[in-house]
Amino acid sequence: MKVLQKAAIHQLYWAAHKANLFPKSSNAQYFYDFDCLLDRLGILKQYFPKGVLHAVAIKTQSNSAVLQKIVDNGMGLEAASIEEVHLALATGIEASKIVFDSPVKTREEIDFCHQQLPGIYVNANSLEELKRYPPDFSGRLGLRINPLVRSDAPSIFDVAQKRSKFGVPIDQEAAIIQASIDYPIKGLHLHIGSGIRNFSGNIEAIGRVLKLAYKINQLRPDNPLEFLDIGGGIDFEAATGSTFSVASFVDVLIKQYPTMFEDFQLITEFGKFVHKHNAFAVSTIEYVTPPQQASEAGTAFIHIGADLFLRKVYSKLSINYPCSVHCPQKKPSSSTLKYNIAGPLCFAGDFLYYDLVLPKLQSGDLFFMHQVGANTLSLWSNHCSRTAPYFVGFYASRLISSLT
Ligand SMILES: Cc1ncc(COP(=O)(O)O)c(C=O)c1O
Repeated sequence: MKVLQKAAIHQLYWAAHKANLFPKSSNAQYFYDFDCLLDRLGILKQYFPKGVLHAVAIKTQSNSAVLQKIVDNGMGLEAASIEEVHLALATGIEASKIVFDSPVKTREEIDFCHQQLPGIYVNANSLEELKRYPPDFSGRLGLRINPLVRSDAPSIFDVAQKRSKFGVPIDQEAAIIQASIDYPIKGLHLHIGSGIRNFSGNIEAIGRVLKLAYKINQLRPDNPLEFLDIGGGIDFEAATGSTFSVASFVDVLIKQYPTMFEDFQLITEFGKFVHKHNAFAVSTIEYVTPPQQASEAGTAFIHIGADLFLRKVYSKLSINYPCSVHCPQKKPSSSTLKYNIAGPLCFAGDFLYYDLVLPKLQSGDLFFMHQVGANTLSLWSNHCSRTAPYFVGFYASRLISSLT
């Protein structure tokens, strides 16, 4: 599985600089490697059986050039809002590869899908929402189920608890079965949460929803459910060869649910796994202020903070992007000092790191944050009305070879 290494990151920055891929006047840039993206998409294609629709979650990384590469690679897109449906459409994708999952779809949005996007997958979030669909809905209507399982998702991303706002709790089985008779439902959807490493909860959840799908099909033998959307949310640690790899996930699915891939069009909605390792962000260090006392840390002020890294700064999640510095004007100093890294926003908490031990810094040095491809740029916050970092999309292999 490709992961951009520190040395390559610094080299890529300078290659992009030399190739004029970003304005020299920009204070911060966001670099996204399409080679890494293709590697991740290739892993999904290689280890899942053929025919699975991988609808990559737009919310995780919504840059239009990235979406275009995903679509050009034959993959689908998962949209969490009508705006994301339009981002998907701008790539030229067929409606039949879009999955629309907003929990608050309006009548107008549903009508737009019905009139303009026949074949689109639309997952209703509740029994209440089902009332808004015409009996001859031209899209493929799914019903989101909350399978009520436990997982290792951090609590703010755990959407399979009893009080979750997503999906119909699976313990309302009679109502779900009745809805599958009353409405033109063609599939079931689940997504139990994000940030999951141990996917045993996903396996259990898929089993529960699959069992329900077969129960529905027994009652509708002439009109069986066509698809099962198993969502995303798993941070696979490898493609293969480890307990929490893509290959072992698929192996377990095939062993435990041998008929699933034949009986249903399977859909996935991975986001973070696809994007996390593909990007790095760079900011010029604008100022360095010394510590008040020798034992304390100095402060380096940079041009990205809580606006790009909302989850890192505002939440209690422990997000530790690897980071590094590069000092263009000089050889890095052999002596090290402690630094806090301050973002540019006007509130006290806008710090990205505390007490980092780094070579002695000065204004004009570069601060790099690695593995920032997921849930950063797509969450950009307009606080203080600052300009977002300049997006640089590139193929690392081509950029490096341009140096030689
Ligand atoms: C319905 C749904 N599908 C897919 C995803 C993507 O999750 P991840 O990026 O963790 O794979 C999310 C994330 O919130 C989601 O809510």
